[in-house]
Parts: sequence; structure tokens; C-alpha cells
Amino acid sequence: MWLSWRVATERALYGENGFYLRESPSRHFRTSVGASAVFAEAVLRELLAVDDALGRPPEVDLVDLGAGEGTLAARVAALAPADLRARLRPTAVDLAPRPPGLPGEIVWSPVPPDRIRGLAIANEWLDNVPVDVAEQTPDGPRLVLVDPATGEERLGDRPAAADLAWLDRWWPMRAAGERAEIGAPRDDAWARVVARLAQGRAIAVDYAHASGGRPPYGTLAGYRDGAAVPPVPDGSCDITAHVALDACAAAGERAGATTAALTTQREALRALGLTGTRPPADRARTDPHGYLRALVRASEEAELLDPGGLGGFGWLVQERR
Ligand SMILES: C[S@@+](CC[C@H](N)C(=O)[O-])C[C@H]1O[C@@H](n2cnc3c(N)ncnc32)[C@H](O)[C@@H]1O
Repeated sequence: MWLSWRVATERALYGENGFYLRESPSRHFRTSVGASAVFAEAVLRELLAVDDALGRPPEVDLVDLGAGEGTLAARVAALAPADLRARLRPTAVDLAPRPPGLPGEIVWSPVPPDRIRGLAIANEWLDNVPVDVAEQTPDGPRLVLVDPATGEERLGDRPAAADLAWLDRWWPMRAAGERAEIGAPRDDAWARVVARLAQGRAIAVDYAHASGGRPPYGTLAGYRDGAAVPPVPDGSCDITAHVALDACAAAGERAGATTAALTTQREALRALGLTGTRPPADRARTDPHGYLRALVRASEEAELLDPGGLGGFGWLVQERR
């Protein structure tokens, strides 16, 4: 059976007994959310800034998109100061069933709320929105088809006109054999979030690439049990591809965002006060416990800031005022 990558991935991840409907993401890979509570503290700082800008309204939304186990929403809610917590409406959005043990105050839903006033954040969501893959041939782009049982590929038809237009605008391929992931479904998914943002900020954090620097052979990858595996869309592993966040930003603007800022996680978290600086060594003598705590904190911050790791992720920040 030959399927387009988008259809095959949709079935493998979210179809009957799909990977994400059965598995806990944290069993298979480490995200900024799972790395430490420091990420949730930084997101709380974003939320406090949004709350201030909105004039501390009677209700503030925190929407965790592609929430996985709901850890980010739960941690931010738990860390929020009492005044904010009393007004906070935390929602975790995921296609998976509600995780057992998630605090009752977190609403669990397969779709975002209709109207969001506050902060919506998507950490490593868009890379799991399935995409088609195209390959350049001497006669132009063709869709890549895959056998979901084996991962074997062959070329199919020309992509649809809208997908060809997307490739032309966002990921033009030059030489025969080059491959591109058609990001239009991510643009649409992000635009649907921004369209629901009545007032506030929406942030997407992901593996990203930008126009002019796309990887010539694409980024399709598989993960299972903490290791990279061949991307076979048979439901046994995660299937992911990096995100054209610049294309998502343009879609967000068309959906009503009034601003768009693209940066790296390193820069975004440094602006929120993270430094990764180790405590001075002589503190170990005067305050050994405090020194150890500060050392752990510094290494957690350093992991989130690492330019070769999580710090190299893209942050797309869009607002609607
Ligand atoms: C890589 S996990 C990220 C989990 C968590 N945000 C984190 O950073 O640890 C991606 C999650 O996105 C969810 N997801 C993918 N497409 C979705 C959609 N259209 N609506 C809601 N959730 C979705 C998947 O089920 C999965 O739990």
C-alpha cells in the first residue's frame, strides 16, 4: 500500500492505536518541558507579562497546545502567584486521552478554546503536525509515497497546485534529488490558533529552519525509546520534521496577528532572565547546600540555552492586541 507521507504519518501517530494515542512522549524523547521546571518558570514570566499588558482581567487563559502529558500547563499553574492563579483558566490541548493524575484545575481538550485571552504556547507541537514530502526531478517536484509497513519510498504524482505554490514561496528545490517537507498543514494549524486569539500572545517553540537555510534533503526523522530510528510510519515510533516557522509566522499574520518575532530559544530565555551562570566556587565552603542548588539550577538553565541543543530551537512569538 502506497500512501503520501502526510496520510501515512497521520495514521501512524493519531490513527487507531496511533503512537501518540498510546505512548507518553516523555518515554521517547526529552523536550524543554521535560528537561526541568525552569522552562515552566520562564513561561510563567511570559504569562505574567501578558497578564499585565491585558490589565489583569478577571479571567486569563493559558493554553498548552500539543500538551503531551500536560506537564507545562500543570507546572505553570502551580507556580503562578495566588492573584493570577485565582483568575487562570489553564487548558491542555492534545489528541491523546487525558493523562491520569493531571490536576483537576487543568481542562483537557482535543481542540483549543474558541476564544483565547492570554497566552497560548506550543512546545514541539508543530513538528508533529503531519506533512507531505516532495522530491525534485528533472520534470519538477513529485510527491514522495511511502509503504507504511517498511518505510520504502517511491515517487507519486505532482503535488497539488496549492502545495506547489507553497514550495515555490517557502522551500524552492534546485537540483534533482533534493527533498522538501510541505509545511502548509503547519501554517494552517498555527493560523487556527492565532484566529482564536482574541487578545494576548501565541508562542510556537520548535526545531526550525528559515528561508534560504532549508536543509536540501529535508529533516524527516523517527524516534523511539530515546533514540533516533528510521522514520517508518507503522505506528511504532514518533515521526517528526523540522518546522518552517517563518511560513507559520506569515500564516499567523494573515489570521490576524499584529506582530511576529522569530528568535532562538537561547535569546528568548536570556531575555526572560536565564543565564546558565555557575555559582562562584567559594560559595561551596560558606553555603554548601545553597551552592549545590545553584549549581543544579545553572546546569538546568544551560541545557535550555545550549545553542547546539534546546537553545537552538526557534521561537515564534505573535501577538494580537
Ligand atoms: C512532541 S509532543 C510534545 C509534548 C509537550 N508539549 C512537550 O513539549 O513535552 C507533541 C504532542 O502534540 C500532540 N498533537 C499533535 N497534533 C495535535 C493536534 N492537531 N491537536 C492536539 N494535539 C496534537 C501529540 O499528540 C503530542 O502529544
